Amino acid sequence: HTDVLRDQLRLAPVIPVVTVDDARISIDLAHTLVRAGLPVIEITLRTSAALDAISAIAKAVPEAVVAAGTVLAGSQIREVADAGAKFIVTPGTPVKLAEDLREAPIPVMPGCSTVSEAMTLADMGFSYLKFFPAAASGGAAWLKSVNGPLPNLMFCPTGGIDRTSAPSYLSLPNVVCVGGTWITPAEAMKKGDLAAIERLAADAASLQG
Ligand code: 3PG
Repeated sequence: HTDVLRDQLRLAPVIPVVTVDDARISIDLAHTLVRAGLPVIEITLRTSAALDAISAIAKAVPEAVVAAGTVLAGSQIREVADAGAKFIVTPGTPVKLAEDLREAPIPVMPGCSTVSEAMTLADMGFSYLKFFPAAASGGAAWLKSVNGPLPNLMFCPTGGIDRTSAPSYLSLPNVVCVGGTWITPAEAMKKGDLAAIERLAADAASLQG
């Protein structure tokens, strides 16, 4: 799974982290994000519409790589894989969940926020980790510090990252991409303002370290 996940995470500098209240917007939203250059899309399992959104995107927008985020329990692994999610993201990874994730039928990017958690996940075979909540847990300075002792781990920092701070993360050798909600603000999602989202996404797609 690691090589597949690596290739998915290298597709774009930013993963929009999207909370969908109404699955009907999901196909147009995915087309918009793909067109703007952000084909990797994390749909958080925080609303009842999330699974429908994942399966709609998986079916209708094959150019998108739709991930399931906010996976908190082992029981959700099968659900999101069946819905068509291409990989799984967790905000944090207690050992029981990590054991279940190790058996997942799709790749997994487990979340961590400490060196010990990162080491535990590395021992379990995970090499691409979500660093969450990135800004609150030490930000780019944390990532810079762990690259020496943990050179084989790659991170997707997420949490408190925006357009302004993203380049300072993307310039680090152990950052593969960053995640964030700034591309799909709640206001634009509510209004279905895809033009605004397309502008934010195109700008995010152009970011470099
Ligand atoms: C996540 O689950 O990744 C976070 O909710 C990201 O949120 P933020 O980019 O607004 O900090």
